[in-house]
Amino acid sequence: MTTSIIERRRIGFFDSGMGGLTVLHLAQQAYPEAEYIYYADVDNVPYGKKSKKTIKKLVFKAVQFLVDQDIDILVVACNTATSVCIKKLRQRYDLPIIGMEPAVKPAVQLLKRPQHRILVCATRLTLKEKKLKDLITNLEASDKTDLLSLQKLVAFAEAQDFDSKKVSKYLHKKFKDKDLRGYTAVVLGCTHFIYYRELIKEILPKDIEIIDGNAGTVARLLFFLEQFPQADDQSRPSKIKVYFSGRKQKSKVLKPFLKFLNQQER
Ligand code: DGL
Repeated sequence: MTTSIIERRRIGFFDSGMGGLTVLHLAQQAYPEAEYIYYADVDNVPYGKKSKKTIKKLVFKAVQFLVDQDIDILVVACNTATSVCIKKLRQRYDLPIIGMEPAVKPAVQLLKRPQHRILVCATRLTLKEKKLKDLITNLEASDKTDLLSLQKLVAFAEAQDFDSKKVSKYLHKKFKDKDLRGYTAVVLGCTHFIYYRELIKEILPKDIEIIDGNAGTVARLLFFLEQFPQADDQSRPSKIKVYFSGRKQKSKVLKPFLKFLNQQER
């Protein structure tokens, strides 16, 4: 009799808070066989208002924790952490590490007329970082791109405030001064902002595309998963283990967030 060893892939997801869950949610739909480990650094969210030095320290601590859980792949489901330390993480750890950056490239590809522009929304720190500036420059899009910090959405999402009047007022105020008809696409360059996709859609003129990097990140994850020789056990449903700044949580803490994401998809 032959016994086959069936192993589940362990995929670590990291974010400052609950934003990265928007990526994990999509990954789980595409690859339900894996064991997912979600690390949210809720003690230190938001990262977008912190110094690079502080973020580096926090990210390395969190990633070491995930590596100690024997993960096969790491997804840094945070644009801010990626822009500050993805290079250093890849230097230190010998496992596939997938980062996230604002999806400027697909947005630029949509530009139809020379006078049209794109608007990149992200955290304060992501917008200041060289990584984003280089990306925009390399795409020759510097004169066609505007930047907008929606930092407060991070706190709203953490408080599970997805659609109150307060949020709506904040978004209206932020977009008020922009000549919205001039944009072809708006990029959501922070994983927390995905919770507000529908609300933002309502504010923007109908023909503006809203673009994010979640699907691209999951495609990259699937590409890495294909390199593993062993098959995952498809008979058991996928699991998510949750840690808040290193403390084990019951997976039901994710429920309100997942529920909202499911509703938004309908
Ligand atoms: N979710 C994160 C991002 O994608 C970070 C938000 C924050 O902590 O400020 O940028």
